[in-house]
Amino acid sequence: NRVVLAYSGGVDTSVCIPYLKHEWGVKEVITLAADLGQGEELEPVREKALKSGAEQSLVANATASFVTDYAFPAIQANALYENRYPLSTALARPLIAKLLVEAAAEYGADAVAHGCTGKGNDQVRFDVSITALNPDLKVLAPAREWGMSREETIAYGERYGIASPVKKSSPYSIDRNLLGRSIEAGPLEDPNTEPPEEIYALTKAIADTPDQPAYVEISFEQGIPTRLNGETLAPVTLIQQLNEVVGNHGVGRIDMIENRLVGIKSREIYETPALLVLIQAHRDLESLTLTADVTHYKRGIEETYSQMIYNGLWYSPLKAALDSFIQKTQEHVSGTVRVKLFKGNATIVGRTSEYSLYTPDLATYGAEDQFDHKAAEGFIYVWGLPTRVWSQKRRG
Ligand code: ARG
Ligand code: SIN
Repeated sequence: NRVVLAYSGGVDTSVCIPYLKHEWGVKEVITLAADLGQGEELEPVREKALKSGAEQSLVANATASFVTDYAFPAIQANALYENRYPLSTALARPLIAKLLVEAAAEYGADAVAHGCTGKGNDQVRFDVSITALNPDLKVLAPAREWGMSREETIAYGERYGIASPVKKSSPYSIDRNLLGRSIEAGPLEDPNTEPPEEIYALTKAIADTPDQPAYVEISFEQGIPTRLNGETLAPVTLIQQLNEVVGNHGVGRIDMIENRLVGIKSREIYETPALLVLIQAHRDLESLTLTADVTHYKRGIEETYSQMIYNGLWYSPLKAALDSFIQKTQEHVSGTVRVKLFKGNATIVGRTSEYSLYTPDLATYGAEDQFDHKAAEGFIYVWGLPTRVWSQKRRG
C-alpha cells in the first residue's frame, strides 16, 4: 500500500518515513511539502524526503489559495480565537489536508499520514478535515503512537540515515507561514517568563521601531482587502507588503495562554502583523457600512466561526452555513481605512465608503442637525416603560 505523508523536513516528519515503512509495513511513502509562503526554500526539503527513504517527494505551492480561500474568509469573519489569536496556524491545516487528499487520489494512495503528536490541536484539524473530504481514506499518525522521546526519535532516524539536527536545535517549536509565526516550548513553557527578543522574526522590538509614524491606507471590496495606499495588489503581495510595514513598527505580537481543544492550556507567542491589522481595519469598515443589528448579530457568528476554525471544523456543514451568512453581510463592506502605525500600536484614524451609513445631518451637533429631538421623548417613554413599571411595583 501507498501513503501520502505531510512533510515539513523536520526530524519528526522525516522519521515518519522509515517508521511507516519498517514498523507499519507501508510499501511506498509519497511525501508532500506545502509552500504556504513560509519563506523557506523547499527544494532541500524535497530532497531530504528522498534521502530519508520516500519513494516520491512532492512540493505544492498553495500560497495564493491559502490567502484567497482561507485567510480572506477569516478576515471577513474577523476571526480571532479567544478574542486574540487570528488563527494563522489553524487556517493552514484544512488546506494541507485538502492537498493530501488530492495527492492521495492522484497517486492512488489508500492512506494519508501526518507527524502530529497526540497533545495538540493540529492532529484534530488534520484528521477531521481529511475524513470530511474523503471518508474512505485512512489517516495514520505515527508520532501519536510511537512513544519515543526527542532523543529516541533522533536516534531512530540516525539508524535510517536521517542526519540529526546539525546545530544545537532550538528549544522552540515554531510554525511558520505567510500569515505569521507561532512559537512555543522551551523557556516559554513558564507562563511567567517574558519571551526573549530572539524568538521574533517578523516584528521589531519597540526600541528599534522608527520614531516617525507610518500611515497605510487599506481598501476593501466586499470585505476583501484589494489595495494598499491606492495600489491594487495580488493577495499574496498585499499580505507580504503589509507584514513588512506593520512589523517594522512593532505591531502584531501576541503572548497568550490559550485553551486547546484537547483540554490543555498552552502558552503560545504569535506574530501576525498583516493579519491582525487587516482584521482591525475590516471591523472598522463594517462599523461604518453595516446596520447596528447586523453588526451585533455577526459578533456571535464570528465567535462560533473562530472556534470552529480552531477546533478543526473548517469543512463542516455548520461552517458552510455560517459562510453564507457572512458572505451576505459583506456585500457593501467596501471602502478605505487609514491606519497609523507607531511604536507597537495600530490605530485607525480614518475611514471612507461609498456605502457609508454615517449620516452627517443626523450625527452633527451643529446647526445642520436634522435629527428630531422631540421624537426622542416618546421613544424614551416607551423604551423605559418596563423598567419604570418594575420599579414602581417594587416600591409598592
Ligand atoms: N496554538 C496554535 C494553534 O493551535 C499553534 C499550534 C502550532 N504551534 C507551534 N508552535 N508549532 O493553532
Ligand atoms: C502539535 O502537537 O503538533 C503542535 C501543537 C498543536 O497542534 O496545537
